[in-house]
Amino acid sequence: MDINSKISRRISVAPMMDCTDRHDRFFLRLMSKNVMLYTEMVATKSAIHGDRKKILSYSPEEKPLALQVGGSNKEELAEVAKIAEDMGYDEININLGCPSKKVQKNMFGACLMKEPDLVAECINAMVKSCNIPVTAKTRIGFDDVESFEYLNSFIHKMRDAGAKTFILHARKAMLTGLSPKQNLNIPKLNYNMVYEVKKQNPDLEIIINGGISKVDEINNHLKHCDGAMIGRSIYQNPYSLVEIEREISSG
Ligand SMILES: Cc1cc2nc3c(=O)[nH]c(=O)nc-3n(C[C@H](O)[C@H](O)[C@H](O)COP(=O)(O)O)c2cc1C
Repeated sequence: MDINSKISRRISVAPMMDCTDRHDRFFLRLMSKNVMLYTEMVATKSAIHGDRKKILSYSPEEKPLALQVGGSNKEELAEVAKIAEDMGYDEININLGCPSKKVQKNMFGACLMKEPDLVAECINAMVKSCNIPVTAKTRIGFDDVESFEYLNSFIHKMRDAGAKTFILHARKAMLTGLSPKQNLNIPKLNYNMVYEVKKQNPDLEIIINGGISKVDEINNHLKHCDGAMIGRSIYQNPYSLVEIEREISSG
């Protein structure tokens, strides 16, 4: 059986640092039985050496639940993938989209878009160490690079390393010049780039993210992609998940 078939990523709530902690996720689960939930990003070193009970434990009610990890050391990432599996997480997701300076300094997040070979090695190590899906959340480009060819070849490297599911925040990462907060609204979203990725790679699961809030927007994205991930609008208005769950079949 395809392990990916057990969970649905048709609608998911984005990982949000200092927001989607276990209490928020438990609360969101009261609004929606089926939505896929993600933890805040956890650095590999914290997951391995930190207080695991405090950092990684969750309530069974939160499932289906993915652990998002930040890192670029393949041994550490493989270890965290195994920890995630052992703790019952449904997915391990690598953060390749955060532009913050601190995250760049530690060599994780969006700066890894510049290192496709390293990312492929990391994904391969994670895939080999666990049996849960290994997925990636990334941007459509970075700094001066917003090219379909670059993005598509980055995705192909990750696919060849064993990932089948990609969450694409449809806005490029600005590694310099903008704060991470500004980079959540600037530059402009480019949904067509994400649609094109799905069109060219029908066998991959492509989840679109960025600026989505309304049911009709979700329905439109679902004509082009396999799922929609929603961040801020659900954090600001959790009750909107009730309508989203009612209106959009999770199948
Ligand atoms: C407060 C906040 C914290 C975030 N933390 C993370 C994170 O830990 N990992 C990650 O991949 N993205 C993080 N993001 C980005 C979101 O997951 C998402 O990609 C972004 O907000 C765009 O989606 P939206 O327009 O629906 O909010 C964060 C965003 C916000 C607003």
